[in-house]
Amino acid sequence: MNTLIEKAKSEHTLSKDEILQLLQDETINQELFKSADSIRKEFVGDEVHLRALIEFSNFCHCNCLYCGIRAENSFVDRYRLSAEQIIQLARQAYDFGYKTVVLQSGEDFAYKVEDLAQIISEIKKLDLALTLSIGERSFEEYKILKEAGADRFLLRIETTDKDLYMKMHPKADFENRKRCLFDLKKLGYETGTGCLIGLPGQSLESLAGDILFFKELDSDMIGIGPLIPHPQTPLKNAENGNLELALKVMAITRLLLPDINIPATTAMETLNPNGRIMALQSGANVIMPNITTEDIRCKYEIYPNKATVNYKELEDKLGQIGRKISHNKGYRNLRRAL
Ligand code: 5AD
Repeated sequence: MNTLIEKAKSEHTLSKDEILQLLQDETINQELFKSADSIRKEFVGDEVHLRALIEFSNFCHCNCLYCGIRAENSFVDRYRLSAEQIIQLARQAYDFGYKTVVLQSGEDFAYKVEDLAQIISEIKKLDLALTLSIGERSFEEYKILKEAGADRFLLRIETTDKDLYMKMHPKADFENRKRCLFDLKKLGYETGTGCLIGLPGQSLESLAGDILFFKELDSDMIGIGPLIPHPQTPLKNAENGNLELALKVMAITRLLLPDINIPATTAMETLNPNGRIMALQSGANVIMPNITTEDIRCKYEIYPNKATVNYKELEDKLGQIGRKISHNKGYRNLRRAL
């Protein structure tokens, strides 16, 4: 076996240079995926956790160069769901059997933190874990949302290469994004981050840095997605991110953070009709089906042709690879306590 993979499997640490060597070596990919799959099985088991995604607003004041709902995309038909609509969708998710709902939106300050806190406490009357994915806010705001009952928070760092970050996110502040992540961790959120694969100018070395950052944060969830260029953004002529490379970054992340939650991301499935299953067999243990109604979902177009989940089909496919849908909330911290 490749000695670096062996070391990652047993020690769960690698230097930046060692990660880079794995990323550069095309001959070890299958071995890497297999190893990540066995570490996944050993540390988090065969259950796949489903997180019901509710995209409640596509207003966004950010201008990320790659993102379809960026503020300057005037073609977007903007919408905001009301508190009642959001709560109703969460109820539907609960009735369907989901154990987690994820409330995601663009960075939309029309929702005051008090409004969000009320929505959260209403949803938390149901037996559900609640994840937020609403972007950068202050420590105080994150604290109010945590106290209202939010359990988890997703905020991808997108890239840890500061120069690239500044190019991709005009006027954004890289240090503030990191501050947010460490604040979330400090406040006791299960904190998720992640990165994009295939940003123009991104190097393998910077991806190695991303993986080390996940480890430094001790992130509880990591979402990794290949870039899919959106035709109404400045990156419209960029190439698709490389799925194999995205899977490699994900697999190495699994080896270094063996007990975390890792989604098979929608962007992976969008690039390959079997992308989700490939990811689940290379370290992933989570899927995030979108439960927003179709009329709204099509307006939340961060990239084109977003893949969907058919529950029955998914259940069948999981059965075929020896996996099953979990009926618990899938907290990293509870697994750790056992
Ligand atoms: N292709 C792939 N992923 C994208 N995201 C945003 N735009 C794109 C795109 N064009 C990802 C970002 C963000 C997450 C919600 O979606 O990483 O954090």
